[in-house]
Amino acid sequence: TLADWNGEVMPLEDVKVSVLDRGFLFGDGIYEALRVYGGKPFLLREHMDRLKRSLKEVSIDADVDAFEKRTLNLLAKSGIKEGLIYQQVTRGVYPRVHKYPPKGTKPNELVWVKEFTETPFAEFRESGAAVVTVPDLRWKRCDIKSINLLGNCMAAEAAAQAGCQEALLIAEDGSIVEGSHTSAFGVKDGRVWTMPLGPNILPGITRALVLKLANRANIEVIERSLLKSELGQIDELFLTGTTSEVLPVTKVDGHGVGTGKAGPVTLRLVAEYQKEID
Ligand code: PDD
Repeated sequence: TLADWNGEVMPLEDVKVSVLDRGFLFGDGIYEALRVYGGKPFLLREHMDRLKRSLKEVSIDADVDAFEKRTLNLLAKSGIKEGLIYQQVTRGVYPRVHKYPPKGTKPNELVWVKEFTETPFAEFRESGAAVVTVPDLRWKRCDIKSINLLGNCMAAEAAAQAGCQEALLIAEDGSIVEGSHTSAFGVKDGRVWTMPLGPNILPGITRALVLKLANRANIEVIERSLLKSELGQIDELFLTGTTSEVLPVTKVDGHGVGTGKAGPVTLRLVAEYQKEID
């Protein structure tokens, strides 16, 4: 795996970082993950805009345009056609104090590109994946793509322990927020339901594209939260994300959803998404 560490290209295993890096000590950093299809970074503009927004929300002062150029150079150098790009910017190295270090402290900027051919969930495209519900234990600014992901890791581990592919995070009011690393959608009477954007949810880039594809296919979209207690009444459930793409879900906490097989609206969106990446 090839990396760019603060402008220097090197094998990923050669990157060395100080234990005083604020990402290491506090989870004080921002990240993005992008797919590469046919040698091109997919939805690059959207990812760079979200990176800029996240960095601005936490006042990390990084030159995202230069970072983007380095990312594209690294991708070209790697020669990778089907891959995954990981980008991370932390607030940099400074003696451990909670408040931000003085202006001028250099952020640590890391990108790597790796081969990524099979989607991890390809086998579930038709049969559908199984998920478990867990309480959403995360902080109140999940719209910021922070590297502080312990709540997400705990949820993903609960899913793995249950032999499931993902966890659905449930808010205190009983609504489905999102997955541990995916956005969540329901389908009822041919309409797509999704959680409205807000501080409790990541504005998923795949989510936005899928909503656009639904509009284009004349599938009605309702931005309204879906309650866990409503799961028994919905026809279809699916997740979206950079690595998961469009993933049908047919089991929640061991109970079948809808017919128990991937539904027609989900499969239509799977097909429309496939056309976008081909
Ligand atoms: N997942 N919600 C959370 C909490 C996420 O971490 C992610 C991204 C998503 C989907 O966002 P997008 O469509 O922009 O990837 C939603 C990681 C990066 C992934 O899927 O690889």
